[in-house]
Amino acid sequence: MRNDIERILIPHKRIAERVRQLAERITADHTPPEIPDDGKLVIIPILTGAIIFAADLIRHLPMRMKIDLVTVSSYPGKSIRSQGSSLLSQQIGDVRGRNVLLVDDILDSGGTIRVVRRLLEAMEPASLKVCVLLRKTTEGSARTPVDYVGFEIPDEFVVGYGLDFGSYYRNLPDIVTLKRDIVGQASQPASGVLK
Ligand code: IMP
Ligand code: MG
Repeated sequence: MRNDIERILIPHKRIAERVRQLAERITADHTPPEIPDDGKLVIIPILTGAIIFAADLIRHLPMRMKIDLVTVSSYPGKSIRSQGSSLLSQQIGDVRGRNVLLVDDILDSGGTIRVVRRLLEAMEPASLKVCVLLRKTTEGSARTPVDYVGFEIPDEFVVGYGLDFGSYYRNLPDIVTLKRDIVGQASQPASGVLK
């Protein structure tokens, strides 16, 4: 697996530092002194990519919280471009009147966040905030407002720390790019799906 890496974009130490900073900001925004631990926070990681980020982030959050889950697919198989986001499943309880924090690994076209935001808004939470570890500099991401961003990255395909290519590489501790012969970018078909 390590032989497939082209370049380390963000080493795990920098990720860990940034995750701690994001958690500090989220804590400050969600625990006003008059209600120090009101238990109304619901964290919703978007599966599967956000699992590692969310697992690290929530362990720096001191307040009472629940975790719900939602699964969205936008890069099926060996895709390196969004194929349109579709909701695959959701385990979301009653979030009406609660403060929801949606967590995703990366914001690219914004399709994923839009799909989940629409679903959640219909459930009438008290507040809805979005936290992404990475934001690619794309037109779609610029049109998709989010509340917390870990790192701005160029429009490159990345894996590791939860992000996958063909469902592999999620367990790499760093965020990396893959060698061209692995992602086959040189021969990338117009659809962005590699067979
Ligand atoms: P969006 O819907 O285009 O904003 O893309 C968001 C989703 O696509 C993320 O939740 C990821 O699962 C996936 N994704 C986007 N860019 C990458 C990438 O560079 N590597 C791996 N997965 C990606
Ligand atoms: Mg995803």
